[in-house]
Amino acid sequence: MAIEPRAFLTTMETRIGLTAEDKKVMQANADWGTAVAEEMADHFYAFLGRDEEMNGILNATEGRVHRLHATFIDWFNQMFTGMDNWGDDYAKCRWHIGLIHVKIGIGPQHVVPAMAVVVDKVGRKLKADGKSDELKDALAKVCMIDLAFIEQAYVEVSSSAVLRETGWSAALFRRLIATGAASM
Ligand code: HEM
Repeated sequence: MAIEPRAFLTTMETRIGLTAEDKKVMQANADWGTAVAEEMADHFYAFLGRDEEMNGILNATEGRVHRLHATFIDWFNQMFTGMDNWGDDYAKCRWHIGLIHVKIGIGPQHVVPAMAVVVDKVGRKLKADGKSDELKDALAKVCMIDLAFIEQAYVEVSSSAVLRETGWSAALFRRLIATGAASM
Protein backbone atom coordinates (compact mmCIF):
# COMPACT_ATOMS: atom_id res chain seq x y z
CA MET A 1 0.00 0.00 0.00
CA ALA A 2 3.04 2.33 -0.16
CA ILE A 3 2.35 5.48 -2.15
CA GLU A 4 4.47 6.96 -4.88
CA PRO A 5 4.84 10.61 -3.75
CA ARG A 6 4.83 12.18 -7.22
CA ALA A 7 1.74 10.27 -8.32
CA PHE A 8 0.03 11.24 -5.04
CA LEU A 9 0.91 14.91 -5.63
CA THR A 10 -0.57 14.80 -9.13
CA THR A 11 -3.77 13.23 -7.79
CA MET A 12 -4.05 15.84 -5.05
CA GLU A 13 -3.45 18.71 -7.50
CA THR A 14 -6.34 17.41 -9.60
CA ARG A 15 -8.67 16.76 -6.66
CA ILE A 16 -7.93 20.08 -4.94
CA GLY A 17 -7.85 21.98 -8.24
CA LEU A 18 -4.36 23.50 -8.09
CA THR A 19 -3.93 25.01 -11.55
CA ALA A 20 -0.95 26.31 -13.54
CA GLU A 21 -2.31 29.84 -12.86
CA ASP A 22 -2.32 29.15 -9.09
CA LYS A 23 1.33 28.07 -9.32
CA LYS A 24 2.25 31.23 -11.22
CA VAL A 25 0.49 33.41 -8.62
CA MET A 26 2.37 31.63 -5.82
CA GLN A 27 5.74 32.00 -7.52
CA ALA A 28 5.12 35.66 -8.34
CA ASN A 29 4.58 36.26 -4.61
CA ALA A 30 7.54 34.22 -3.33
CA ASP A 31 9.26 37.37 -2.01
CA TRP A 32 6.17 38.28 -0.01
CA GLY A 33 6.18 34.71 1.38
CA THR A 34 9.78 35.11 2.49
CA ALA A 35 9.00 38.46 4.10
CA VAL A 36 6.13 37.08 6.23
CA ALA A 37 7.49 33.57 6.95
CA GLU A 38 9.06 34.50 10.29
CA GLU A 39 5.85 36.11 11.55
CA MET A 40 3.84 33.04 10.47
CA ALA A 41 6.30 30.77 12.28
CA ASP A 42 5.79 32.84 15.45
CA HIS A 43 1.99 32.44 15.21
CA PHE A 44 2.35 28.73 14.50
CA TYR A 45 4.58 27.91 17.47
CA ALA A 46 2.65 30.23 19.80
CA PHE A 47 -0.47 28.22 18.86
CA LEU A 48 1.23 24.83 19.43
CA GLY A 49 2.74 26.11 22.69
CA ARG A 50 -0.72 26.97 24.11
CA ASP A 51 -1.73 23.29 23.93
CA GLU A 52 -0.32 21.26 26.80
CA GLU A 53 0.20 18.07 24.82
CA MET A 54 1.72 19.74 21.77
CA ASN A 55 3.89 21.96 23.94
CA GLY A 56 5.22 18.78 25.59
CA ILE A 57 6.15 17.32 22.19
CA LEU A 58 7.80 20.56 21.09
CA ASN A 59 9.99 20.70 24.17
CA ALA A 60 10.70 16.97 24.45
CA THR A 61 14.26 17.36 23.17
CA GLU A 62 16.84 20.09 23.54
CA GLY A 63 16.83 22.67 20.74
CA ARG A 64 13.75 21.22 19.00
CA VAL A 65 11.69 24.43 19.03
CA HIS A 66 14.59 26.39 17.65
CA ARG A 67 15.18 23.85 14.86
CA LEU A 68 11.47 23.73 14.06
CA HIS A 69 11.30 27.48 13.66
CA ALA A 70 13.87 27.22 10.85
CA THR A 71 12.22 24.18 9.22
CA PHE A 72 8.82 25.93 9.29
CA ILE A 73 10.27 28.93 7.45
CA ASP A 74 11.78 26.63 4.79
CA TRP A 75 8.46 24.79 4.46
CA PHE A 76 6.53 28.05 4.17
CA ASN A 77 8.84 29.40 1.45
CA GLN A 78 8.68 26.12 -0.48
CA MET A 79 4.90 26.45 -0.73
CA PHE A 80 5.44 29.58 -2.85
CA THR A 81 8.25 28.37 -5.09
CA GLY A 82 7.04 24.77 -5.43
CA MET A 83 10.76 23.86 -5.13
CA ASP A 84 11.10 22.18 -8.54
CA ASN A 85 7.77 23.58 -9.77
CA TRP A 86 5.82 20.99 -7.75
CA GLY A 87 7.81 18.09 -9.19
CA ASP A 88 9.58 15.04 -7.70
CA ASP A 89 11.54 17.04 -5.12
CA TYR A 90 8.43 18.76 -3.80
CA ALA A 91 6.53 15.47 -3.58
CA LYS A 92 9.41 13.63 -1.83
CA CYS A 93 9.88 16.51 0.62
CA ARG A 94 6.18 16.53 1.60
CA TRP A 95 6.11 12.74 1.95
CA HIS A 96 9.19 12.91 4.19
CA ILE A 97 7.51 15.57 6.38
CA GLY A 98 4.51 13.25 6.71
CA LEU A 99 6.69 10.31 7.77
CA ILE A 100 8.48 12.42 10.39
CA HIS A 101 5.19 13.37 12.04
CA VAL A 102 3.96 9.76 12.01
CA LYS A 103 7.20 8.63 13.70
CA ILE A 104 6.82 11.21 16.46
CA GLY A 105 3.16 10.26 16.96
CA ILE A 106 1.68 13.60 15.93
CA GLY A 107 -1.79 12.69 14.69
CA PRO A 108 -4.54 14.28 12.60
CA GLN A 109 -5.98 15.79 15.81
CA HIS A 110 -2.79 17.90 16.06
CA VAL A 111 -1.98 18.53 12.42
CA VAL A 112 -5.41 19.62 11.15
CA PRO A 113 -5.87 22.47 13.69
CA ALA A 114 -2.25 23.51 13.11
CA MET A 115 -2.81 23.81 9.35
CA ALA A 116 -6.06 25.69 10.01
CA VAL A 117 -4.02 28.24 11.98
CA VAL A 118 -1.60 28.68 9.07
CA VAL A 119 -4.50 29.26 6.65
CA ASP A 120 -6.20 31.70 9.03
CA LYS A 121 -3.10 33.72 9.96
CA VAL A 122 -1.75 33.93 6.44
CA GLY A 123 -5.23 34.90 5.21
CA ARG A 124 -5.34 37.83 7.66
CA LYS A 125 -1.85 38.90 6.64
CA LEU A 126 -2.74 38.76 2.95
CA LYS A 127 -5.74 40.99 3.60
CA ALA A 128 -3.71 43.46 5.68
CA ASP A 129 -1.11 43.67 2.90
CA GLY A 130 -3.75 44.15 0.18
CA LYS A 131 -2.93 40.89 -1.58
CA SER A 132 -5.33 39.30 -4.08
CA ASP A 133 -8.01 36.67 -3.49
CA GLU A 134 -6.26 34.61 -6.19
CA LEU A 135 -3.18 34.36 -3.98
CA LYS A 136 -5.31 33.49 -0.94
CA ASP A 137 -7.08 30.70 -2.85
CA ALA A 138 -3.86 29.31 -4.33
CA LEU A 139 -2.14 29.28 -0.95
CA ALA A 140 -5.08 27.53 0.70
CA LYS A 141 -4.95 24.83 -1.99
CA VAL A 142 -1.20 24.26 -1.49
CA CYS A 143 -1.74 24.04 2.29
CA MET A 144 -4.43 21.38 1.74
CA ILE A 145 -2.10 19.38 -0.52
CA ASP A 146 0.62 19.47 2.13
CA LEU A 147 -1.91 18.46 4.79
CA ALA A 148 -3.07 15.55 2.64
CA PHE A 149 0.52 14.25 2.50
CA ILE A 150 0.81 14.21 6.30
CA GLU A 151 -2.61 12.58 6.75
CA GLN A 152 -1.98 9.98 4.07
CA ALA A 153 1.35 9.06 5.66
CA TYR A 154 -0.60 7.79 8.71
CA VAL A 155 -2.73 5.47 6.66
CA GLU A 156 0.18 4.19 4.59
CA VAL A 157 2.58 3.64 7.50
CA SER A 158 -0.05 1.96 9.71
CA SER A 159 -1.35 -0.35 7.02
CA SER A 160 2.06 -1.33 5.66
CA ALA A 161 3.26 -2.09 9.21
CA VAL A 162 0.29 -4.41 9.82
CA LEU A 163 0.65 -6.12 6.44
CA ARG A 164 4.37 -6.66 6.96
CA GLU A 165 3.97 -8.05 10.48
CA THR A 166 1.01 -10.32 9.74
CA GLY A 167 1.52 -11.32 6.11
CA TRP A 168 -2.18 -10.51 5.48
CA SER A 169 -3.28 -9.47 2.01
CA ALA A 170 -4.48 -5.90 1.46
CA ALA A 171 -7.95 -7.26 0.64
CA LEU A 172 -8.17 -9.16 3.95
CA PHE A 173 -6.98 -6.07 5.83
CA ARG A 174 -9.64 -3.89 4.18
CA ARG A 175 -12.31 -6.48 5.05
CA LEU A 176 -11.21 -6.54 8.70
CA ILE A 177 -11.32 -2.74 8.86
CA ALA A 178 -14.80 -2.67 7.35
CA THR A 179 -16.00 -5.29 9.89
CA GLY A 180 -14.29 -3.46 12.75
CA ALA A 181 -15.78 -0.11 11.74
CA ALA A 182 -19.24 -1.67 11.47
CA SER A 183 -19.02 -2.94 15.05
CA MET A 184 -17.96 0.41 16.56
C1 HEM B 1 0.65 22.43 9.50
C2 HEM B 1 1.14 21.38 10.04
C3 HEM B 1 2.63 21.16 10.17
C4 HEM B 1 3.65 21.45 9.31
C5 HEM B 1 3.53 22.05 7.94
C6 HEM B 1 4.89 21.02 9.94
C7 HEM B 1 6.13 21.15 9.36
C8 HEM B 1 7.26 20.47 9.83
C9 HEM B 1 8.51 20.38 9.14
C10 HEM B 1 8.83 21.03 7.80
C11 HEM B 1 9.34 19.60 9.88
C12 HEM B 1 10.79 19.24 9.59
C13 HEM B 1 10.88 17.95 8.86
C14 HEM B 1 12.33 17.57 8.58
O1 HEM B 1 13.12 17.47 9.53
O2 HEM B 1 12.65 17.38 7.42
C15 HEM B 1 8.60 19.21 11.07
C16 HEM B 1 9.09 18.41 12.08
C17 HEM B 1 8.47 18.31 13.31
N1 HEM B 1 7.22 18.79 13.64
FE1 HEM B 1 5.91 19.63 12.41
N2 HEM B 1 4.59 20.52 11.17
C18 HEM B 1 3.24 20.59 11.36
C19 HEM B 1 2.54 20.21 12.48
C20 HEM B 1 3.14 19.87 13.67
C21 HEM B 1 2.45 19.72 14.93
C22 HEM B 1 0.96 19.93 15.16
C23 HEM B 1 3.39 19.36 15.84
C24 HEM B 1 3.09 19.08 17.29
C25 HEM B 1 3.75 19.50 18.27
C26 HEM B 1 4.68 19.29 15.14
C27 HEM B 1 5.89 18.94 15.69
C28 HEM B 1 7.01 18.58 14.98
C29 HEM B 1 8.18 17.91 15.54
C30 HEM B 1 8.34 17.51 16.98
C31 HEM B 1 9.08 17.73 14.48
C32 HEM B 1 10.48 17.07 14.55
C33 HEM B 1 11.46 18.06 15.07
C34 HEM B 1 12.86 17.48 15.27
O3 HEM B 1 13.58 17.43 14.29
O4 HEM B 1 13.14 17.10 16.39
N3 HEM B 1 4.49 19.59 13.84
N4 HEM B 1 7.34 19.77 11.00
